[in-house]
Amino acid sequence: MESLRRPIPDQEESLDPGDWSDVRALGHRMIDDSIDYLRDVRERPVWQEMPMEVKTVFERPLPRVATPLDAVYRQVMENLMPYPMGNIHPRFWSWYMGSSNLTGALADFLAAVQGSNLGGGNHAAASMDNQVVNWCKEMMGFPPSASGTLVSGGSMANLIALTVARNVKAGVNIREDGVGTIEKPLRFYASDQVHSCHRKAVEALGLGNKALRRIPSDRDLRIDVAALRAAIREDRAAGFQPACLIATAGTVNTGAIDDLQSLANLAADEDLWLHVDGCIGALLSISPENAYRVADIARADSIALDPHKWLHAPFEVGCVLIRDASAHRGAFAVTQEYLESTPRGLASAEWLYEYGLQTTRGFRALKVWMALQEHGIEKFGRLIDQNIAQAHRLSRLIEQESLFELVAPTSINIVCFRYRSPGLDSAARKALNIEIMLRLQEEGIAALSDTTVHGEHCLRVAINNHRTRREDLDVLVQETLRLGALLMP
Ligand SMILES: Cc1ncc(COP(=O)(O)O)c(C=O)c1O
Repeated sequence: MESLRRPIPDQEESLDPGDWSDVRALGHRMIDDSIDYLRDVRERPVWQEMPMEVKTVFERPLPRVATPLDAVYRQVMENLMPYPMGNIHPRFWSWYMGSSNLTGALADFLAAVQGSNLGGGNHAAASMDNQVVNWCKEMMGFPPSASGTLVSGGSMANLIALTVARNVKAGVNIREDGVGTIEKPLRFYASDQVHSCHRKAVEALGLGNKALRRIPSDRDLRIDVAALRAAIREDRAAGFQPACLIATAGTVNTGAIDDLQSLANLAADEDLWLHVDGCIGALLSISPENAYRVADIARADSIALDPHKWLHAPFEVGCVLIRDASAHRGAFAVTQEYLESTPRGLASAEWLYEYGLQTTRGFRALKVWMALQEHGIEKFGRLIDQNIAQAHRLSRLIEQESLFELVAPTSINIVCFRYRSPGLDSAARKALNIEIMLRLQEEGIAALSDTTVHGEHCLRVAINNHRTRREDLDVLVQETLRLGALLMP
């Protein structure tokens, strides 16, 4: 109450700088430093452990007094910039990430400066957001009548699509009456290689983890379509309602691409929603040499794709596309008295927040829009082919080396292999391979991750990186052999 009675000072405060020329000089320095940082990325370790004195910086209490911006920036340069995750480095191949790009980073800065809220409205950023969604439809071969929305990433894109699938297939007014009124329990299907975000999605949708039936994958790590067909039949007989097939175009473990043609036929025969999780592989559709691998993707009812992976947009940006725009809007639209549209002016365009869960939305489109314009879609397609060619070359090097073995077939850009360590049992071999992986990280040489494929532990090299060159992969082979020999008991 005391603060309500306080008079407004003569000179009101704002967050703008007191002296614009000082901040201009600092801003220029930040850009210069950023350009040097990216130019020299190859010279730095992929990753390095933070020293204790750096870790303690992030335990300091809430700042109560002002610090000059150049001192704040100095802290960032000293304590943050030298200790990144490493995914912009040419020898980062862990898990599955894009490697970002300078234009996208500048775009994120401009988007924040322009500051628009992409909940919607009649303004240029909203038009650009729509345009980028339209470009995504075009890349996937989806019709212009389809809808879509930019989201934080693949997990959200999948959640949005599965929400629409659930609502369409529920057979009740699920928004009003809830999942408890669904007559027969819904069943969704995916392979045992499905990404964990789908489990989170079915749980969040109130269907429960068991509603997502994992179908065994075959030797190529693709869903076994005959087993899927049998599971659907069995579920119908047991009183469940099969609702949705989740095809994966590029599994996270090995990059395997489910047989989209057979799954599209099966979905049509069984009247199921076909969702394609294309977070890894949907963008193959723009690559000259590998588009054939996802030839049937446009038959899906919905697609999740991830521009922050193979378009290398800085995090975060994912995209979901839904063939039936009215089903999409019908799953999320709410008209609120404080967000009614007007015939003219700022509120005269469609609200973009009606296509997802967020109300306020960040301006994600600009980083995709600027980089696509700068390079053109064909170059992004060639970069995808380049990563796939690199992965296949690495696989050949592994096959030629008797101390290595491939653990899964290389489909696109993910290579699963291990150091063979003759004479060791599987637990000791796993420990040895993990130790090799950790030494590669700790020595700043390369970042890999590991996984288990059909019960076999392996190292995993996911080449989703526009900076990787073939000599980087030669370094990986040499250094893995060196560490294997060094660490072999
Ligand atoms: C196949 C697949 N689906 C979904 C996701 C989740 O995407 P995101 O990390 O952008 O949320 C990933 C992430 O790697 C993935 O590989």
